[in-house]
Amino acid sequence: MPSFVPVALVGDIPPGQAKAFVVGDLEIAVFNVDGQYHAIENACPHQGGPLADGWIDGNVVTCPWHAWCFDVRDGRMTLGGYTTVDAFDVQVEGSTISVWSEPRS
Ligand code: FES
Repeated sequence: MPSFVPVALVGDIPPGQAKAFVVGDLEIAVFNVDGQYHAIENACPHQGGPLADGWIDGNVVTCPWHAWCFDVRDGRMTLGGYTTVDAFDVQVEGSTISVWSEPRS
């Protein structure tokens, strides 16, 4: 049964940064963009680069391996637009950040 899974506390991910968490069988990168949290699949669809370790500029993360870029709000590739990564809903309750255990459809 899908559910929100607690992954971190608000202070764990400073603005402009990201961290990866294992949720079930998935590895999910959670980004803090000016206090708004967004979650996408951590593995880049090119060759699996860890997107949580990428360069973050506003809502865009650049893969640290070969520089493919994705919008962290919906997982869409920002240059070319021919692929996406899965995006997940995020909930903040009190100081706890939780991620929905299945991708947004
Ligand atoms: S693995 Fe991400 S761009 Fe190549």
